[in-house]
Amino acid sequence: MFRRTRTIFRCKTEKLRGLTPLADTPFSGFRSHAGQRTFNAMTAPTTFPRRAWVEIDLAALERNLGKIKAALPPRIRYISVVKADAYGHGVGPMVSRLLQCGVDCFCVANTREGADVRELGRGTDILVLGAVLPEEMPMLAHYGLTASISCEAEATALADLAAAHKTRFAVHVKVDTGMGRLGVWHERAPDFIRFVLRQPALDLRGVFTHFSCADSDAAFTTIQRNRFVETLAALPPTLRESENLLIHADNSAGLETFSDGGPFNAVRVGLLQYGLPPNKDSLLARLKPEAVLGFHSRVGLVKELPRGTGISYNRTHFLKRDTRIAIVTAGYGDGIPISASNRAHVLIRGKRCPIIGRVTMDQTIVDTSDLPELAVGDIVTLIGRQQGGEISLNEFCTWTNTIAWDVFCSITKRVERVQTGLI
Ligand SMILES: Cc1ncc(COP(=O)(O)O)c(C=O)c1O
Repeated sequence: MFRRTRTIFRCKTEKLRGLTPLADTPFSGFRSHAGQRTFNAMTAPTTFPRRAWVEIDLAALERNLGKIKAALPPRIRYISVVKADAYGHGVGPMVSRLLQCGVDCFCVANTREGADVRELGRGTDILVLGAVLPEEMPMLAHYGLTASISCEAEATALADLAAAHKTRFAVHVKVDTGMGRLGVWHERAPDFIRFVLRQPALDLRGVFTHFSCADSDAAFTTIQRNRFVETLAALPPTLRESENLLIHADNSAGLETFSDGGPFNAVRVGLLQYGLPPNKDSLLARLKPEAVLGFHSRVGLVKELPRGTGISYNRTHFLKRDTRIAIVTAGYGDGIPISASNRAHVLIRGKRCPIIGRVTMDQTIVDTSDLPELAVGDIVTLIGRQQGGEISLNEFCTWTNTIAWDVFCSITKRVERVQTGLI
């Protein structure tokens, strides 16, 4: 009897893939999401339904790459920033697709991330942006990674290790033009670069800086840019003009360096390739990238509560009317920030519904009084498109008072990354 039930159920789920209701199954009211099966409780489940997931649109990524590269002058090399698990998008599929699109180099934060990217891209250049700890130095050689260096102590340690193993380390010198983080202070940079050039075991492949306010303070960005250009002017012309030396400063919010034929020959792009709109002052201001990531969850429970009821921990919201609430099967343990409490909205059946009360670790409560047709299992979209509605990442950032990088990196490991747009 159970076998027969399962057979019928499977036929329905196969036929009704996607967002289709399964109202006549033994689990009346439950829905199946694409690629998922729900099971009669008496049979052994083989997959768990997704309670929270992100959809990664690899075709959108590819289109973004195409648009960005087409908008840059041909001599500009494309360094793709894939640190922090490709900004939470899942480094494996992202790097594989980026390699197919043609990138000149990847940036990662540390040697662990560099090793992961090396598995995927055997011949590709990989620049480690973070300071390399002494015990990580042998990893650079093992995985063929390029280090960013900021001081003579780092350069000497690398040179000594390389010489001891009769090898050379590829390095980029990082120049601090006002970020106040890594890098040699710009006034000392020419001397430091000459010091690096005197180390036979170091192979200088790039010089770069990083802007602290490219998206917020054009005047200070110009000061940083000028300091960097001055640093470069102090270098031997043969080095400065060498095709093999990457000179880069701009991230997504910069990207305006190239119109004047300056010394730059590469860009480091993160946000823009993931689909965030460019800065309005950028050379690429008119480019319209597509969002690559959508963040979704489900309705786990629907219930009615009387006017005046306090909602969730610490009772930060009281119902102003009799209310139908939906309990969403994700919380801050999945990456919905606590700051979304009483501020953000979600999409259910294409309609916006407000989050009420405090977001909790595994659950979030939404006012769904205006959705009479709501059902358990409905898809809840936190970021992205659904049935004609859309919540943009920028909107989500405004509600939660944070920045896009933080939102991406806060989506936790228990949220499955599901790729679409596969080839
Ligand atoms: C040194 C460096 N370069 C480039 C980037 C990429 O910036 P964006 O994501 O704004 O393009 C980052 C991002 O954190 C960075 O730290």
